Amino acid sequence: MGEINNYDAFGSAIINTIKRYNLKNNLEIGSWDGTGSTQCFIEGMKDFDTKSLTCLELRTDRYQHLVNNTSQYNWVKCYNMTTVSYESLIYKDFEDVWNSPYNGIPDNEPGKKDLVNKWFVDDTGDIKKFGKGFLETYPDEKYDGVLIDGGEFSGYTEFLMLKDRTNVFFLDDYYNAFKTRQVAAELEKDNEWEPIIAEKNTRNGFAVIKKKTFL
Ligand SMILES: C[S@@+](CC[C@H](N)C(=O)[O-])C[C@H]1O[C@@H](n2cnc3c(N)ncnc32)[C@H](O)[C@@H]1O
Repeated sequence: MGEINNYDAFGSAIINTIKRYNLKNNLEIGSWDGTGSTQCFIEGMKDFDTKSLTCLELRTDRYQHLVNNTSQYNWVKCYNMTTVSYESLIYKDFEDVWNSPYNGIPDNEPGKKDLVNKWFVDDTGDIKKFGKGFLETYPDEKYDGVLIDGGEFSGYTEFLMLKDRTNVFFLDDYYNAFKTRQVAAELEKDNEWEPIIAEKNTRNGFAVIKKKTFL
């Protein structure tokens, strides 16, 4: 079952932001089976005349469920692809992740570093099974809104490929995590961007940040 839903604070923020700012062309990174954040996007977008939601999911088993769970919406397109290729990944060395100032993953139990290292090996192994990533295959596509909720170690690479072609970022895991912590830190310092909402302690932290002047 999906993680983000219509009844939690992040899910509501996704729906409300889409409606308020008319976000009609959106990208969801990390769709899982289409029952979580995907449904929030669908709820927010369903009353627009023209709309497009692109969903990316790397795991084939989850992708099959995603396709089934969105098949009634012809404006939802699903891709069983990685966002970025292994070659493009900025963080290829686990020590760089673990020692990064942007590592907010709590080191709160014996063996935690080994556990996170295992996630890193598994995630990078999954990415290596693919060639070019979606963001490299479609480098000119612009988005009204993008959710970054894919791999724990690829969020910053995805952001760098999307920053100049996105109006609103929905960031999951931006605080007690590594996934989007560096993204949030950089956008916070950038005068061209402003936060709509940020909650450090809901789940691992979520934030919605918009470009002051839309593309
Ligand atoms: C935290 S889950 C997403 C949860 C989902 N947003 C929800 O609300 O239920 C992250 C998902 O991203 C997928 N993923 C991980 N790395 C990815 C990558 N490089 N490209 C695309 N999807 C990726 C994982 O398979 C996983 O299903």
